[in-house]
This record gives sequence, structure tokens and C-alpha cells, in this order.
Amino acid sequence: MTTSNRLRSGNVSAPETGVSVYEAIHNRRMNNDFSDAVPDRDALRRMLDAAVWAPNHRLTNPWRFYVLEKGGEKRAQVAQLAYDNLFARSGNHEHADGSRQRVLDAPALIYVYSVPGDSEELTQENYAAACCAVQNLLLAAVAEGLAGDWSTGNTTRHPQLAETLGGESDWTMVGALFIGQPSRPSASVRAPADEVTAWLS
Ligand SMILES: Cc1cc2nc3c(=O)[nH]c(=O)nc-3n(C[C@H](O)[C@H](O)[C@H](O)COP(=O)(O)O)c2cc1C
Repeated sequence: MTTSNRLRSGNVSAPETGVSVYEAIHNRRMNNDFSDAVPDRDALRRMLDAAVWAPNHRLTNPWRFYVLEKGGEKRAQVAQLAYDNLFARSGNHEHADGSRQRVLDAPALIYVYSVPGDSEELTQENYAAACCAVQNLLLAAVAEGLAGDWSTGNTTRHPQLAETLGGESDWTMVGALFIGQPSRPSASVRAPADEVTAWLS
């Protein structure tokens, strides 16, 4: 990775949006029910641009993103890996085919990895930063009128996946992000912060 082209936070302008940070946080519900519309490449770029401004101890830029174009050859290869992985585990053609189809059908699909550091501690920090990057990306998706589904399920688990995408076998899988225009609202639940917070003096 070259170091000559670093972005400076003071020089980067945020895209215009009418969505507040709090609205994006509360409206970012996992959703895998999409219309057929394929998200605009510029919108995906803005989301990725937001992702890389996640907190990042030691500024290691540990995230790696693979955007798999719908209908593309790489998408088909990854879909086949999803099929193979599930079929090997379950022997169930129908389930395996469902997993393959999920990869093929996603309006947009981004695989995210984090790279290892020089120690276990750094590798963990890198993974934490990459998770923050995913959250940035998913919040930006809300601002773009999109929704996402973060998965670490079958479609991320084939041992050959990282190399098929162009990565390394020792990278940590952060998740597959299925992204599109939501065709229905999605809801969720949480314990209130008061239940899990101690105010100490
Ligand atoms: C690291 C991580 C991995 C996840 N993997 C999956 C997954 O494999 N399958 C899935 O259905 N959801 C997955 N999710 C999504 C969560 O299940 C989802 O966030 C949860 O249901 C709460 O929904 P909400 O975020 O809309 O409140 C994952 C989320 C995270 C943070």
C-alpha cells in the first residue's frame, strides 16, 4: 500500500445528506429484503470513503474491501464457493443452492477483511477498526437510502474465499455486506443503555 497519497481529514468534505447521525444509527437495521435496483457505484464509493475514516489505532489502514459486481465472474465464483461450503457440510443441495443464489442476487455485495498485525494485540486492534469501518459504511448506506445485512455466515466461510477474492489466507474475515434498496422496513430490539451502564464517581 502506497503512503504517498494519504487523505487529510481537514481536506475531505462530507457528502451532502439530510440524515442526521442519530437517524442513521437508529434506522440502520439489518435488512436483507431488497428491491432489484442495483445501487449506484457513486453511492457505494461514498460509503467506502466513509468506511476508511473509522477509528484506527496506529493508522494501519487494516481494512480490505472487495466489491463484487452483480452479474460479474467473481460474483459467480464466490457464489459457487458458498454452494460448495454448505453442500460439503450439509449434503443438502437445496440449502446450498439458496446460499449460492443469495450471493448472486444481492444488489450490491462487499466482502470485508482485516489484515493481521505484528502481534495478536495489533491483529485484534485491526479487526476492531475494520468492524468500525463496516459500521461507518452501513450508516452511510442509510444516508444513501440503502440498507445492509452484515453476515459472517456460510457465504464467508469457504477456506479458499480470501484467495479467490485476491486476499491472503491469514486475513480475518470481517463480513459479507449485502446491500440494496430496502423493500420493507426492518425492526430490532435492544436492552436500554441504563441496564448495561454503571455511572461511577
Ligand atoms: C460481526 C457480525 C456478524 C454478523 N453475522 C450475521 C450472520 O451471519 N447472519 C445474520 O443473519 N446476521 C448477522 N449479523 C447481523 C446481526 O444478527 C444483527 O445486527 C442483529 O440481528 C441485530 O439487528 P440490528 O443490527 O438491525 O439491530 C452480524 C452482525 C455482526 C456485528
